[in-house]
Amino acid sequence: MAIKKVGVVGGGLMGSGIAQTAAQAGYDVLLAEVSQELLDRGMGRINGAWDMLTKKGRITEEQAGEYRGRIRGTLDMRDFADRDLVIEAIIENMDEKKKLFSALDGIVPAGAIIASNTSSLPIIEMASVTARQENIAGLHFFNPAPVMKLVEIVRTIATSDETTEALREFAQSLGKTPIIAKDTAGFVVNFLLIPYMLSAVRMYENGLATMDDIDTGMKLGCGYPMGPFELLDYVGLDTTLYAAEAIYHEYPDPAYAPPTLLRRMVQAGRYGMKTGKGFREYAEKR
Ligand code: CAA
Ligand code: NAD
Repeated sequence: MAIKKVGVVGGGLMGSGIAQTAAQAGYDVLLAEVSQELLDRGMGRINGAWDMLTKKGRITEEQAGEYRGRIRGTLDMRDFADRDLVIEAIIENMDEKKKLFSALDGIVPAGAIIASNTSSLPIIEMASVTARQENIAGLHFFNPAPVMKLVEIVRTIATSDETTEALREFAQSLGKTPIIAKDTAGFVVNFLLIPYMLSAVRMYENGLATMDDIDTGMKLGCGYPMGPFELLDYVGLDTTLYAAEAIYHEYPDPAYAPPTLLRRMVQAGRYGMKTGKGFREYAEKR
């Protein structure tokens, strides 16, 4: 299956990074959002990254121009009728994702692949609302998508070998290393990472150490590039909470239960860097 035309739905933190990565690798990319303002914001993030890379001398002006020429935005899902692969990167909510999968199934060509970038939700539930379960899989990128080298390919009980192979080749063409995960909550990485971040919140909630000391401990003690609170604000507290809930739903073990403080932060609208306020405050919303 030759993938040439790629669609990305959702131009937030992840969708914009995935669209940027695919355009850099030579694909024709279409990015969809729900409003012009959000589409402009997503495209602005992508163009900002290319400006930054040009200024740093990592890419030439000419390359940046070529990348820009390969990507366009839309508010109309019907424009996805010629896409070979669509990657869904909308909010971590099953009802919203199912609505989108059902709509896309009626729009994209027969045989096209629809993949989800979900952090933790069951892929087969999204596939269940389509008539192409064999062409559906998880394609899980890591934040920031243009930089992190891993992609998890999540195979459901219905995903075909052809779809898995096509996604493996696609991930490699982006310069990523794919690993195959089963369709279980959290897949491989988040099943380990989310309980780690939840433990850090519980540690702080119970007054065992300060937030700064916990971050410093994990950075200097383990060589992690970010401490857990820096990573929580970077990933998004909303996304982390929804992913934790999905894992806890499947494995009702207290280690996976979202701590009350995390829930309260999300209820307060403190989602992290993207809203300017999370465990710490940021001068600019991302
Ligand atoms: N496009 C292309 N390149 C980019 C880029 C972009 N949008 N943003 C940054 N870069 C490049 C920079 O140019 C730089 O490259 P050079 O060294 O060639 O200059 C490099 O990436 C590093 O960037 P910075 O110097 O700006 O920043 P840094 O060195 O402080 O690293 C970081 C930033 C990569 C985010 C690092 O802090 C890190 O690895 N943090 C941990 C991230 C992590 O754990 N992610 C996983 C989250 S979990 C997840 O994603 C799964 C989920 O479902 C929730
Ligand atoms: P985000 O909130 O930054 O972006 C989501 C975007 O989707 C928003 O801009 C929203 O307007 C848009 N959207 C919602 N419904 C839409 C629709 N029907 N059509 C088009 N656009 C729509 O979220 P994010 O952090 O980019 O996460 C997106 C997905 O990627 C989630 O499933 C999340 O679990 C997953 N993920 C997130 C991370 C992370 O670190 N944040 C890492 C890997 C995977």
